[in-house]
Amino acid sequence: MPVVAIVGAGVIGMSWARLFAEAGWEVRVSDPRPDLAELVAEQLAGLPATAVADPAAAADGADFVQESGPERIELKHELFAALAANTGEDVVLASSSSSLLPSVIAEGNAAAGRIVIGHPFNPPQLMPLVEVVPGTETAPETVDRAVEVYRALGKLPIKLRKEVPGFVGNRLQKVFNDQAMYLVQQGVIAPEDLDELVKASLGLRWATIGPFESMHLGGGPDGMRHLVGHVGSQMTFEIGHPDREHLEDVFEDVERVYGTGAENYREHVEQRDRATRAILGALDSAGARK
Ligand SMILES: NC(=O)c1ccc[n+]([C@@H]2O[C@H](COP(=O)([O-])OP(=O)(O)OC[C@H]3O[C@@H](n4cnc5c(N)ncnc54)[C@H](O)[C@@H]3O)[C@@H](O)[C@H]2O)c1
Repeated sequence: MPVVAIVGAGVIGMSWARLFAEAGWEVRVSDPRPDLAELVAEQLAGLPATAVADPAAAADGADFVQESGPERIELKHELFAALAANTGEDVVLASSSSSLLPSVIAEGNAAAGRIVIGHPFNPPQLMPLVEVVPGTETAPETVDRAVEVYRALGKLPIKLRKEVPGFVGNRLQKVFNDQAMYLVQQGVIAPEDLDELVKASLGLRWATIGPFESMHLGGGPDGMRHLVGHVGSQMTFEIGHPDREHLEDVFEDVERVYGTGAENYREHVEQRDRATRAILGALDSAGARK
């Protein structure tokens, strides 16, 4: 049975842990949190998973490492130094980081060739995408091996040609979320209405065809060329940016609509996961998923 070390047992790490364990990997979960053993026993009950607090010990003898610790560069440097020193020459050291460049994570690391970003969307257990982002020193074999492992887990790994801050998914998300906050701040729409608007239009569309295919179809038989020259020619207005210093009203609005607290969070996550599974199942039935 192959062994994976999951370093960081937060939202993302625990979801990776379940995914790997259900795919037949022996999982070692590492985290300094004092309740680690209870967390693993409770959330990964019946699966081949153990709690190993020390990351170096968790990585020792592992075939693959998926780091999902806090998004702080000094901590990632420290962790990757320990992971590099305690793994074999052919072991991929993947980071789930949402924004840190792989070249920066690998700075000064003797195993820079083995370091790569394997960025999931939350929750990794359900969301198909993993962005595989090489740094300037990442070896091509590292990228190939990471792609192979993620594919075997049932994920859709997409390789970026080069690193860029925020990678692709989060750059797109940033533009979109900034505009959503701006529109609420400007009093154009309420957060709950914006959410419904997106679910009933762009969300559904983008689950079936991406932005480029959508633009191409939107232009009719003449395709994207026609759309951009025709409807697109009027889309020249400035879109504005949210005032990040004054988001309190937006936070309060969102909390009023969706609530707060652990129990409320659990209920919302369950509903989200149920709906995500249903959509993935429907796309599978329609043969609309790679
Ligand atoms: N939350 C998301 O939506 C999301 C999505 C994709 C990627 N990511 C990335 O995944 C990583 C983890 O994010 P998260 O949301 O799970 O964070 P989180 O705060 O839920 O979990 C981080 C975990 O790391 C642990 N930790 C602290 N110090 C550590 C150390 N020295 N060694 C090992 N573990 C340590 C913490 O105890 C905590 O359990 C980040 O790099 C983040 O950018 C997050």
